[in-house]
Amino acid sequence: MVVGIMGSPRRGGNSDVLLDQCLEGARDKGATTIKLVLRDLEIAPCQGCNRCLNTGECAVADGMREVHRALLQADAVVVASPIYFSGLTGQTKCMIDRCQSLWVRENLVGEKVEHPRKGAIILVGGDAKAVFRNAQSELKAFMKGIGISFRSELLVAGVDKAGEVRSREAEMRRAYEMGQELVRIAP
Ligand SMILES: Cc1cc2nc3c(=O)[nH]c(=O)nc-3n(C[C@H](O)[C@H](O)[C@H](O)COP(=O)(O)O)c2cc1C
Repeated sequence: MVVGIMGSPRRGGNSDVLLDQCLEGARDKGATTIKLVLRDLEIAPCQGCNRCLNTGECAVADGMREVHRALLQADAVVVASPIYFSGLTGQTKCMIDRCQSLWVRENLVGEKVEHPRKGAIILVGGDAKAVFRNAQSELKAFMKGIGISFRSELLVAGVDKAGEVRSREAEMRRAYEMGQELVRIAP
């Protein structure tokens, strides 16, 4: 199963369009896919209560339960986010922080996920010189921290209006291919 995580608050925006392309590529290679739209899930920020430290379970019962379940079951995970102030959106960062319990499982309580999981990221920025490195670095640390092996990325600068990326043929094709590769590449 390929899990797409949509971190833009904008439905039909550039992250959404590219993520759909990617998931379509994965489906065309025979994978089942699910898409989680973070802004539609109720996800509170991590409060640093550290109750997950002994159990690997997050004490907060909200929309993250669905995200945690999907991340644990996934064979591949694609996170798509716009660049906001040279970093990730609040929705995406909030989701990442709430995965502390999954970090605990992988690194402290010895409940590692046994099957291999591949990761990909899609980032879009309105500026022609959008700064991707902060978001890249956070997403790579996130994936590594929860045991997902990072495989590919698509960074698209200079797209601002919602859905504008549809006219960027090469990037649209690349997003589709990334989805296919996530299914094809051996773990
Ligand atoms: C709050 C906010 C902050 C933004 N900051 C940046 C930025 O630092 N750099 C940049 O290139 N674009 C920035 N943008 C533009 C978005 O990255 C751009 O519109 C993008 O295409 C939105 O993606 P979406 O269509 O998936 O929502 C910002 C937009 C918003 C709303």
